[in-house]
Amino acid sequence: MSSENKSKTLAVVNCAQLVTLAGPARPRVGPELRELGIIAHGGMFVRDGLIERVGTSDEIETMLERDTEVVDALGHVVLPGFVDAHTHPVFGGTRVEEFEERSKGATYEEIAARGGGIQSTVNATRATYEEVLTDECRRYADWFLRSGTTTIEAKSGYGLSLEDELKILRVIKRLGRETLLRYVPTFLGAHSIPAEYRSRREQYVSLIIEEMLPAVAQQKLAEFCDVFCEQKVFTTDEAWKILSAARCQGMGLRIHADQLSLSGGAQLAAELGTVTADHLEHTDAAGIAVLKKANVQPVLLPGSVYALGSTRYPAAREMIDAGLAVVLATDFNPGSSPTPSIPMILSLASTQMKMTPAEGVTAVTINAAYSLNRGAEIGSLEAGKIADFVIHDCSDYRELAYFFGIEHPRSVYVHGNLFSRG
Ligand code: NIG
Ligand code: FE
Repeated sequence: MSSENKSKTLAVVNCAQLVTLAGPARPRVGPELRELGIIAHGGMFVRDGLIERVGTSDEIETMLERDTEVVDALGHVVLPGFVDAHTHPVFGGTRVEEFEERSKGATYEEIAARGGGIQSTVNATRATYEEVLTDECRRYADWFLRSGTTTIEAKSGYGLSLEDELKILRVIKRLGRETLLRYVPTFLGAHSIPAEYRSRREQYVSLIIEEMLPAVAQQKLAEFCDVFCEQKVFTTDEAWKILSAARCQGMGLRIHADQLSLSGGAQLAAELGTVTADHLEHTDAAGIAVLKKANVQPVLLPGSVYALGSTRYPAAREMIDAGLAVVLATDFNPGSSPTPSIPMILSLASTQMKMTPAEGVTAVTINAAYSLNRGAEIGSLEAGKIADFVIHDCSDYRELAYFFGIEHPRSVYVHGNLFSRG
């Protein structure tokens, strides 16, 4: 066989637990969230970046070819790469000053009302050249990978003008090409009403619908559209208009719903049949019931509750018990959730939301992958899927949620390629 036709093979052997998440080809609900498909003393064979077989380490060792690279997992846990289904990873500057103010007692809402908050990051992002913004945000790609995340959903939303939103989406596209991290882009022009439109908000909604959405769709820069639906941000009527227009442009729909108040976001998500409804800190039993009926996946973001100093976590237990296909994500952003760490989210999910470690793992792998329309490719370790996997520094997967504040991964592979820290 000539060398260019030869396939590249990789065998992972000697895993204490190969956490496969193998199961039905759909998001997991109810008790299924606790079924991780663990193979004790497991192994995996990868050819050209795709998983060819999973089994016991002994079975995999019989498959070795002459040039197979053998990765000894040394009795550690191996999981699919985490899929972070809600992030805002492209922004200029930081908000450390506001963070300090909040540490002295100011609230997130007070800071936003005096022109800080999202608007201050919009100002910083607009003022940053595309090249520089790309370089600044490479740092965050590195952080995600280091903590074991191999795919993120990435929202725009700190530009809020046609040119600046397109700039952010181009940065996302470029980071996806130039780093090992996989990005799934979402257009969030409806993140906030920018300062220059405050007194004529309907014109900003028209700008989104008539100019931004068509340009984003035409340039194929986003797969999803999201709206921050909240009494003081975009009303349910405005969100309905924007999301309906996005659907006409062929985009999938997501929505920030009921984060700061019970504002009808869950009902709107159900009415529109969005793929996800995110946050849901204030969603009540009626909201949970309509989301179930419409098959909307909740994306829960305990990092933002924690970082805002609140104790109002979403009702994860009730959602799981109602049969919803729960997803957990970081909400990585410079204001309300400055963490790229899925292990931190797993810790919060178990300690604050009473999700078991197994439910947490399902919510950040296979369920998250389905919420991004990637369930057939990533989110589990099964033959035919992409070899995105992580060897963690523990021999029991529950340690990921239990030991918090540390980086667990020893090695991170994306499409069969080893990530090395920048
Ligand atoms: O998901 N809810 C809206 N957006 C972000 C906050 C963004 C910011 O403060 O910059 C969130 O929490
Ligand atoms: Fe968010």
